[in-house]
Amino acid sequence: MQYHRAHGPHRHIIPKAVMSLLLLCTPVLAMDLSSEPISPINPDNELNRDKISLGRELFHDPKLSIDNSISCASCHNLKDGGADDTNVSTGVSGALGTANSPTVFNSSLNFVQFWNGRSANLNEQVNGPIHNPVEMNASWPLIVNRLSLDPTIRQQFEALYPDGVSAGNIRDVITEFERSLLTLNAPFDRWLRGEESALSNEQKKGYRLFKSYGCISCHQGTNVGGNMYAPFGAVKDISEYFNRRGTSLNDSDLGRYTITKDAADRYLFKVPSLRLASLTAPYFHDGSVKDLESAIKIMGRFQLGREIPAEHITAISRFIGSLKGDHPELNQ
Ligand code: HEC
Ligand code: HEC
Repeated sequence: MQYHRAHGPHRHIIPKAVMSLLLLCTPVLAMDLSSEPISPINPDNELNRDKISLGRELFHDPKLSIDNSISCASCHNLKDGGADDTNVSTGVSGALGTANSPTVFNSSLNFVQFWNGRSANLNEQVNGPIHNPVEMNASWPLIVNRLSLDPTIRQQFEALYPDGVSAGNIRDVITEFERSLLTLNAPFDRWLRGEESALSNEQKKGYRLFKSYGCISCHQGTNVGGNMYAPFGAVKDISEYFNRRGTSLNDSDLGRYTITKDAADRYLFKVPSLRLASLTAPYFHDGSVKDLESAIKIMGRFQLGREIPAEHITAISRFIGSLKGDHPELNQ
């Protein structure tokens, strides 16, 4: 023990010669970074602060729902990972939806929106909850009219847009706010950028396993997901999963099939981002799986045909925890 203590500090002193070698190696480190199948999240510096602040306000404003009871934040609680903690969300008058609410953090990095990709981008996505009878059940004329009656909101819009309050401008500010919801400096991103001690050994092991089992073939890119569709039940009949749930299948369960009516798209889903998965239980499009470990086990079985041992599941879940970055709205 004493031997280690006496010699410990020396290991942290980097001799000049080694230092210049390290500097020489910098291009190599940069190359390593780009060869990893996951890249760090960079801030979006193009955003308009006034739009973000108005968008933030409207995101929390129940006037966007028919009976002034529900805001976007009711189902996408920013302090709670940008999702809600129920399996399916509750909209106006206690109406139950059929899908689990995904996080709004980092959603601008997804190639399409919704579990089945029915919206091409965030701007188009806003129309969904506004009109959905089991979410806000409202309409643009109703909302534009209500917001125009609020002098402060009207002035804020008029300062930003020549045509003031309009459906398009409401979508624009909400989208701008959502684009600002990037989680930065995750331990994993710091490690990618060369900070070796940002990850524990178990998290590094988890990342190696995530790659060697093949999770990375679907959950990849900046958002560790959100850049392709994949079948739920890629290697094994998924009806076993649905049967254990004990409720009949609905449109949300059918994935892209509900949009395209193409039999090949049955159970085809947007691969979800795992960036905040450590915070957004319950899991999967139906929210029927309570904890991350069980979700990983199910992925091993249905997506890869592997029974992943408990010790590996723990390491992978620690790695997933390291993907969570910071954002001032995310208070965890
Ligand atoms: C009643 C709950 C509820 C309300 C209110 C609600 N959402 Fe959602 N949101 C959901 C659910 C559930 C989904 C997933 C639905 C699906 O994919 O079929 C979703 C999906 C999304 C997505 C897609 C994320 C992704 O990764 O695919 C975004 C973005 C989003 N909502 C933003 C908003 C905004 C902006 C508002 C307010 C205008 C809003 N939501 C209101 C429940 C809600
Ligand atoms: C063939 C593609 C594919 C592979 C391989 C894969 N996944 Fe997935 N993953 C998906 C899809 C698609 C979903 C969404 C399924 C649904 O909800 O219907 C998903 C969902 C998840 C979720 C739930 C996320 C949430 O927010 O609800 C987690 C966690 C997850 N995967 C982790 C993993 C891990 C860990 C591995 C490796 C053991 C893995 N996945 C392998 C495609 C894949």
